[in-house]
Amino acid sequence: MTIIILLLLAYLIGSIPSGLWVGKLFYNTDIREHGSGNLGGTNAFRTLGMKAGLVVTIMDILKGTAATLLGALPFFESANVHPLILGILAVVGHMYPIFAKFKGGKAVATSGGILLGYNWPIFVILIVGFIIILKLTKIVSLTSMILAIIAVFYSVIYYYTVNHDLPLIGIVILLAIFIFYRHRTNMKRIKDGTEPKVNWKWI
Ligand code: G3P
Repeated sequence: MTIIILLLLAYLIGSIPSGLWVGKLFYNTDIREHGSGNLGGTNAFRTLGMKAGLVVTIMDILKGTAATLLGALPFFESANVHPLILGILAVVGHMYPIFAKFKGGKAVATSGGILLGYNWPIFVILIVGFIIILKLTKIVSLTSMILAIIAVFYSVIYYYTVNHDLPLIGIVILLAIFIFYRHRTNMKRIKDGTEPKVNWKWI
Protein backbone atom coordinates (compact mmCIF):
# COMPACT_ATOMS: atom_id res chain seq x y z
CA MET A 1 0.00 0.00 0.00
CA THR A 2 2.80 2.44 0.95
CA ILE A 3 4.39 1.96 -2.46
CA ILE A 4 1.14 2.84 -4.26
CA ILE A 5 0.67 5.98 -2.14
CA LEU A 6 4.28 6.95 -2.86
CA LEU A 7 4.01 6.49 -6.64
CA LEU A 8 0.67 8.29 -6.73
CA LEU A 9 2.03 11.18 -4.68
CA ALA A 10 4.99 11.58 -7.06
CA TYR A 11 2.59 11.77 -10.02
CA LEU A 12 0.31 14.23 -8.17
CA ILE A 13 3.24 16.51 -7.26
CA GLY A 14 4.25 16.57 -10.94
CA SER A 15 0.64 17.26 -11.89
CA ILE A 16 0.58 20.64 -10.12
CA PRO A 17 0.06 22.96 -13.11
CA SER A 18 2.23 25.85 -11.88
CA GLY A 19 1.88 27.89 -15.08
CA LEU A 20 -1.90 27.59 -15.06
CA TRP A 21 -2.35 28.38 -11.39
CA VAL A 22 0.12 31.30 -11.24
CA GLY A 23 -1.42 32.78 -14.40
CA LYS A 24 -5.01 32.42 -13.24
CA LEU A 25 -4.48 33.38 -9.59
CA PHE A 26 -2.21 36.41 -9.97
CA TYR A 27 -2.69 37.62 -13.56
CA ASN A 28 -6.20 36.44 -14.37
CA THR A 29 -4.70 34.88 -17.50
CA ASP A 30 -4.80 31.35 -18.86
CA ILE A 31 -1.37 30.98 -20.47
CA ARG A 32 -2.72 28.08 -22.56
CA GLU A 33 -4.57 30.72 -24.61
CA HIS A 34 -1.41 32.75 -25.32
CA GLY A 35 2.00 32.33 -26.92
CA SER A 36 2.87 28.71 -27.61
CA GLY A 37 -0.09 27.55 -25.51
CA ASN A 38 2.31 25.52 -23.39
CA LEU A 39 1.94 25.37 -19.61
CA GLY A 40 5.69 25.69 -18.96
CA GLY A 41 7.97 28.39 -17.65
CA THR A 42 8.96 29.68 -21.11
CA ASN A 43 5.38 30.49 -22.01
CA ALA A 44 4.86 32.05 -18.57
CA PHE A 45 7.90 34.32 -19.23
CA ARG A 46 6.50 35.12 -22.68
CA THR A 47 2.92 35.75 -21.57
CA LEU A 48 3.12 36.99 -17.99
CA GLY A 49 6.62 38.45 -17.72
CA MET A 50 9.90 37.86 -15.95
CA LYS A 51 8.65 37.46 -12.36
CA ALA A 52 5.92 34.94 -13.20
CA GLY A 53 8.23 33.09 -15.58
CA LEU A 54 10.82 32.66 -12.86
CA VAL A 55 8.25 31.54 -10.28
CA VAL A 56 6.70 28.98 -12.67
CA THR A 57 10.12 27.66 -13.73
CA ILE A 58 11.29 27.29 -10.13
CA MET A 59 8.02 25.59 -9.13
CA ASP A 60 8.31 23.18 -12.07
CA ILE A 61 11.92 22.37 -11.16
CA LEU A 62 11.02 21.80 -7.50
CA LYS A 63 8.23 19.38 -8.46
CA GLY A 64 10.86 17.05 -9.90
CA THR A 65 13.17 17.54 -6.91
CA ALA A 66 10.42 16.97 -4.33
CA ALA A 67 9.21 13.77 -6.01
CA THR A 68 12.77 12.44 -6.28
CA LEU A 69 13.39 13.02 -2.56
CA LEU A 70 9.98 11.73 -1.46
CA GLY A 71 11.10 8.13 -0.99
CA ALA A 72 13.66 9.22 1.62
CA LEU A 73 10.93 10.39 4.01
CA PRO A 74 10.70 8.04 7.03
CA PHE A 75 7.12 6.97 6.19
CA PHE A 76 8.08 5.91 2.65
CA GLU A 77 11.53 4.42 3.28
CA SER A 78 10.12 0.87 3.58
CA ALA A 79 8.71 1.09 0.02
CA ASN A 80 12.29 1.12 -1.29
CA VAL A 81 11.52 2.80 -4.64
CA HIS A 82 14.43 4.16 -6.70
CA PRO A 83 14.35 7.99 -6.53
CA LEU A 84 14.62 8.27 -10.32
CA ILE A 85 11.39 6.28 -10.73
CA LEU A 86 9.64 8.83 -8.52
CA GLY A 87 11.18 11.64 -10.55
CA ILE A 88 9.95 10.13 -13.80
CA LEU A 89 6.42 9.90 -12.37
CA ALA A 90 6.60 13.62 -11.56
CA VAL A 91 7.60 14.33 -15.17
CA VAL A 92 4.68 12.21 -16.41
CA GLY A 93 2.42 14.25 -14.10
CA HIS A 94 3.95 17.48 -15.44
CA MET A 95 3.32 16.43 -19.06
CA TYR A 96 -0.11 14.92 -18.41
CA PRO A 97 -1.45 16.67 -15.28
CA ILE A 98 -4.65 15.36 -13.74
CA PHE A 99 -5.36 18.93 -12.52
CA ALA A 100 -5.27 20.43 -16.05
CA LYS A 101 -7.13 17.96 -18.26
CA PHE A 102 -3.90 16.02 -18.92
CA LYS A 103 -2.43 18.84 -21.04
CA GLY A 104 0.78 19.98 -19.41
CA GLY A 105 4.33 21.08 -20.10
CA LYS A 106 7.26 19.83 -22.16
CA ALA A 107 9.24 18.03 -19.43
CA VAL A 108 12.27 20.32 -19.35
CA ALA A 109 12.21 22.08 -15.96
CA THR A 110 10.81 19.09 -14.05
CA SER A 111 13.49 16.83 -15.58
CA GLY A 112 16.08 19.33 -14.36
CA GLY A 113 14.49 19.11 -10.92
CA ILE A 114 15.01 15.35 -10.84
CA LEU A 115 18.71 15.86 -11.47
CA LEU A 116 18.85 18.58 -8.81
CA GLY A 117 17.46 16.10 -6.27
CA TYR A 118 19.49 13.12 -7.45
CA ASN A 119 22.84 14.48 -8.60
CA TRP A 120 22.99 18.27 -8.17
CA PRO A 121 26.35 18.83 -9.98
CA ILE A 122 24.68 17.71 -13.24
CA PHE A 123 21.93 20.23 -12.60
CA VAL A 124 24.45 23.05 -12.07
CA ILE A 125 26.32 22.09 -15.26
CA LEU A 126 23.04 22.04 -17.20
CA ILE A 127 21.96 25.45 -15.88
CA VAL A 128 25.29 26.98 -16.94
CA GLY A 129 24.99 25.15 -20.30
CA PHE A 130 21.44 26.43 -20.69
CA ILE A 131 22.47 30.06 -20.27
CA ILE A 132 25.43 29.73 -22.67
CA ILE A 133 23.46 27.88 -25.38
CA LEU A 134 20.46 30.19 -25.04
CA LYS A 135 22.76 33.18 -25.50
CA LEU A 136 23.95 31.60 -28.77
CA THR A 137 20.65 30.28 -30.16
CA LYS A 138 18.09 32.65 -28.56
CA ILE A 139 15.59 29.79 -28.90
CA VAL A 140 14.48 28.12 -25.65
CA SER A 141 13.07 24.95 -27.24
CA LEU A 142 16.25 24.33 -29.26
CA THR A 143 18.36 24.99 -26.16
CA SER A 144 16.23 22.51 -24.17
CA MET A 145 16.71 19.76 -26.76
CA ILE A 146 20.48 20.37 -27.03
CA LEU A 147 20.70 20.18 -23.24
CA ALA A 148 18.79 16.88 -23.21
CA ILE A 149 21.50 15.43 -25.48
CA ILE A 150 24.29 16.94 -23.36
CA ALA A 151 22.72 15.33 -20.26
CA VAL A 152 22.84 11.91 -21.94
CA PHE A 153 26.54 12.35 -22.79
CA TYR A 154 27.22 13.60 -19.26
CA SER A 155 25.53 10.56 -17.67
CA VAL A 156 27.66 8.22 -19.82
CA ILE A 157 30.89 10.09 -18.96
CA TYR A 158 29.82 10.05 -15.29
CA TYR A 159 29.30 6.27 -15.52
CA TYR A 160 32.84 5.65 -16.76
CA THR A 161 34.65 8.24 -14.65
CA VAL A 162 32.83 8.59 -11.32
CA ASN A 163 30.15 6.02 -10.54
CA HIS A 164 28.66 3.09 -12.45
CA ASP A 165 25.16 4.53 -12.25
CA LEU A 166 23.26 2.69 -14.97
CA PRO A 167 19.78 3.82 -13.80
CA LEU A 168 20.94 7.43 -14.28
CA ILE A 169 21.86 6.77 -17.93
CA GLY A 170 18.55 4.96 -18.53
CA ILE A 171 16.44 7.72 -16.97
CA VAL A 172 18.32 10.55 -18.68
CA ILE A 173 17.79 8.82 -22.06
CA LEU A 174 14.09 8.40 -21.25
CA LEU A 175 13.83 12.09 -20.27
CA ALA A 176 15.52 13.09 -23.52
CA ILE A 177 12.96 11.01 -25.46
CA PHE A 178 10.12 12.71 -23.53
CA ILE A 179 11.63 16.15 -24.22
CA PHE A 180 12.02 15.54 -27.97
CA TYR A 181 8.54 14.02 -28.20
CA ARG A 182 6.97 17.01 -26.44
CA HIS A 183 8.83 19.47 -28.70
CA ARG A 184 7.40 18.10 -31.97
CA THR A 185 5.67 21.35 -32.92
CA ASN A 186 8.73 23.37 -31.88
CA MET A 187 10.94 21.22 -34.16
CA LYS A 188 8.60 21.88 -37.07
CA ARG A 189 8.70 25.64 -36.37
CA ILE A 190 12.51 25.58 -36.04
CA LYS A 191 12.68 23.84 -39.44
CA ASP A 192 10.30 26.41 -40.95
CA GLY A 193 12.24 29.27 -39.34
CA THR A 194 9.16 30.46 -37.43
CA GLU A 195 10.11 29.47 -33.87
CA PRO A 196 10.11 32.66 -31.74
CA LYS A 197 13.41 33.92 -30.37
CA VAL A 198 13.76 35.39 -26.90
CA ASN A 199 14.54 39.02 -26.39
CA TRP A 200 15.07 38.93 -22.65
CA LYS A 201 17.55 41.61 -21.53
CA TRP A 202 19.71 39.17 -19.55
CA ILE A 203 20.06 36.90 -22.59
O1 G3P B 1 10.44 24.24 -21.70
C1 G3P B 1 9.65 24.39 -22.84
C2 G3P B 1 10.46 25.10 -23.88
O2 G3P B 1 11.53 24.29 -24.28
C3 G3P B 1 9.65 25.50 -25.06
O3 G3P B 1 8.50 26.21 -24.65
O4 G3P B 1 6.56 27.67 -24.92
O5 G3P B 1 8.51 27.89 -26.48
O6 G3P B 1 7.02 25.89 -26.64
P1 G3P B 1 7.61 26.94 -25.72
